[in-house]
Amino acid sequence: MKTQVAIIGGGPSGLLLSQRLHLAGVETVILERQTRDYVLSRIRAGVLEQGLADQLRQAGVGERMDREGEVHEGTEITFEDHRLHINFRELVGKTVMVYGQTEVTRDLYKARDDMQGTIIHEAQDVALHDTDTDSPYVTFTKDGEEHRLDCDFIAGCDGFHGPSRKSIPADKLRVYEKVYPFGWLGVLSETPPVSEELIYSGHPRGFALCSLRSRTLSRYYVQVSSQDKVEDWSDDRFWEELKARLPQDAADRLVTGPSIEKSIAPLRSFVAEPMTHGRMFLVGDSAHIVPPTGAKGLNLAASDVFYLSTALISYYKTGAETELHDYSAKALRRIWLAERFSWWMTTLLHKFDEEAFDVRVKRAELDFLMSSRAAQAALAENYVGLPYD
Ligand code: FAD
Ligand code: DHB
Repeated sequence: MKTQVAIIGGGPSGLLLSQRLHLAGVETVILERQTRDYVLSRIRAGVLEQGLADQLRQAGVGERMDREGEVHEGTEITFEDHRLHINFRELVGKTVMVYGQTEVTRDLYKARDDMQGTIIHEAQDVALHDTDTDSPYVTFTKDGEEHRLDCDFIAGCDGFHGPSRKSIPADKLRVYEKVYPFGWLGVLSETPPVSEELIYSGHPRGFALCSLRSRTLSRYYVQVSSQDKVEDWSDDRFWEELKARLPQDAADRLVTGPSIEKSIAPLRSFVAEPMTHGRMFLVGDSAHIVPPTGAKGLNLAASDVFYLSTALISYYKTGAETELHDYSAKALRRIWLAERFSWWMTTLLHKFDEEAFDVRVKRAELDFLMSSRAAQAALAENYVGLPYD
């Protein structure tokens, strides 16, 4: 089998990259380890920056998002009973789109199918070969049979645990990492959201987030210890804890119900540099992870896709490799800005086992944010998404 760009991973990065390349006449094959149903069962991000929403529209997959997604002009940050409304439109003239990652992925699968894109599901034992030569290839097994996929380039869109990053020799890769001593317990429930906008709540008991997928589907999170297991958290215990961490009026309004999904995600900051090895390029979670506070994970994956697809399209049009050489540095600049923002928002709003001095400094930081329009504008500028260039 032969293609121009072999894409490992059929999550949002791999699918969007494939779609953008296809529209520019570049051939791809996607190798995905899981079944499609499994990929679509993962409940993850919910907030799309304008940059991602625009890319989906340009790629012909924005129609359902524009119909069913919700444009949010602001968000609320609370600390006990202090509340701060951040109005994105007023502060920085932009908005975000609330539309689940699952739906983005579903729309991208449909678009790839409509264009007869090749996606090989349940591809096992995927391995990358000769990535630092002009003729890289990928091997995999499917239904017990071995296959070889020759290509010009490999895009490693295979998430944090995939084989692409691991294929880079250790002495060629530098890793920066920070693991937080807590996770987020997330619950999806068929209940009306407590608020029209998202609420990010810092509280002495720990962080909580009220988000949503639609007017009838809510997504809530509470900070839990890294040692906690989902089985430790009955629905009743979850709702009680969430209420305790919200301002009183929100707690009073909260409609509870059975959870239809419940999971714990660990929090980590991680960056691998460089994002290139020869003719292999890392994209999205395979190269970097942000803690979810600030909703940057999926959006960062999308900016990587933008830079890499632009560089590959330019290569196939002109033969020039400059943009491919610049890919890693260009993507990393935006990644580090988002790493900084996600780390800052996580530190500001979560409960750490910290010294009394640090607790007071954090209170002062919140106080400054509540009282300074410039600080609010800085938050809004980062939250809606920094420019792509
Ligand atoms: P992924 O979505 O991880 O896709 C990678 C794909 O590669 C997967 O489909 C995987 O099956 C496939 N793959 C892996 N190994 C192989 C292999 N060996 N061979 C072939 N295919 C392989 N972000 C937010 O902004 N907000 C959130 O609330 C949020 N919650 C999250 C919760 C969890 C549990 C996780 C893991 C992430 C969360 N994120 C969140 C981050 C966001 O979902 C990711 O940034 C986004 O999914 C990145 O997309 P991706 O395509 O790069 O990687
Ligand atoms: C969601 C997740 C986030 O990490 C975030 O900052 C906002 C919303 C969500 O799942 O809806």
